[in-house]
Amino acid sequence: MSSDVEHVGLTNVDIQDNPFPYYKEQLSKCPVWHETDIDLYVIGGHEETRAALGDIATFSNKPSAGGRAANMDAIMAYQSVLKEKGWTHLPVLQRSDPPEHSRYRKLLNRVFTPAQVKAYVPQLEEIANSLIDSMVEKGKCEFVRDFALPLPGIFISTQLGLDPSQYPKFRRWAEAMLSLAQRSQITVEEAIIEANVEIEEQHFIAGEFEKRRANPGKDLISLLVNAHVNEEGEEPFTINELMTVLHALITGGFETTTGALSSAMLLLIEHPDQMEMLRNDRSLMGNFIEEVLRFDSPVQGLWRSVKCPVTLGGFDIPENKSAMVRFGAANRDPRVFENPDVFDITRANAKNHVAFGFGVHFCLGAALARQQMSTAFNLLLDRLIEVELAGPMELPIHEPSFFLRPMRELNLVVQGS
Ligand code: HEM
Repeated sequence: MSSDVEHVGLTNVDIQDNPFPYYKEQLSKCPVWHETDIDLYVIGGHEETRAALGDIATFSNKPSAGGRAANMDAIMAYQSVLKEKGWTHLPVLQRSDPPEHSRYRKLLNRVFTPAQVKAYVPQLEEIANSLIDSMVEKGKCEFVRDFALPLPGIFISTQLGLDPSQYPKFRRWAEAMLSLAQRSQITVEEAIIEANVEIEEQHFIAGEFEKRRANPGKDLISLLVNAHVNEEGEEPFTINELMTVLHALITGGFETTTGALSSAMLLLIEHPDQMEMLRNDRSLMGNFIEEVLRFDSPVQGLWRSVKCPVTLGGFDIPENKSAMVRFGAANRDPRVFENPDVFDITRANAKNHVAFGFGVHFCLGAALARQQMSTAFNLLLDRLIEVELAGPMELPIHEPSFFLRPMRELNLVVQGS
């Protein structure tokens, strides 16, 4: 533990790196608790998380003014840069409630359906194989940088119709867009730097929108730009709306899948018996993926605004407060998952996790993320006969983050078959 004795809750960076003992302790007392230093109500029980996700009248996705703003000055500074030089964030998709939510959701629902995702398999295999080729050639890799990032990065850039070699830039942009939410201690100066990174992205994307409006292709940006709000096809989405939808895809689909792929690899290395079992019986692949998502949920929690007073899990939550549904804690709830801290790819109810949320905001990219993970691990296990850590891992394993699990690095020694 660090000397940071004041922050003994979710803002503590050691707890962020390994939050599970903290969840265990909190859940043993109550499925809902209050983080006093930031005035945040955390919903950590599985049943309570599902109840809150299903009750959108009480737990709204629209951002609230209170609670989460430990860094209010930084938020204001970020917003004023966007206002002055680009486009401010609109409350769309993940930051909206029905009925407005459905306008944007409808636009994207048809893109990542399970059938559509199946059609992406050859492309995912091609990307994964070429990444594995270079790790086999070198006999080693830094798995996050050399596989977990480029696989979703190259894939989504190609789908959007952008230059796939530019994916590191996308990641930097996503990092900037998430910086206020990730870093509770961010300063005003740092926020201004991050806002300017987002401005660079906004102007690039606005240019791409204009090009595709004039000259549509078959890519996702063309689809978005030429979609219409109503059935009659009269009202196109504004640039500002489209930009925010695109941000949701970049921020929602990138770091999350990278985190899931990295955790999956580390978990297999830490549990060689499970790796062997999976290597020999690929029918376990689906359950392995669900168990990874349950055990080490890439999105640990997301915010809600409390619209009216409510009692949940016996705990009173006042109105006009910020709450967080803590998927990572719910997925370790011993009332649902027996021996929740054991990683077991044969766990019968692994798929009952809430790592993709639940209800109207259920992850739009869930089928895609699952496909990326299964394509990746089928090929990795086919092509690597040996895979182990290059040396002991340095702590902290993850970058500090209030709600995601970005692994810093994962150095491996590998041997191809
Ligand atoms: C393992 C990878 C992923 C995890 C763990 C994950 C997790 C989640 C969770 C927990 C939510 C619920 C948000 C809420 O209730 O407020 C969500 C929503 C969302 N996800 Fe994912 N996600 C992943 C991959 C993806 C991918 C690949 C994409 C797109 C390419 C994506 C796009 C979205 C979007 C747009 C939403 C908002 C949906 C809405 O509000 O209707 N996600 N995701």
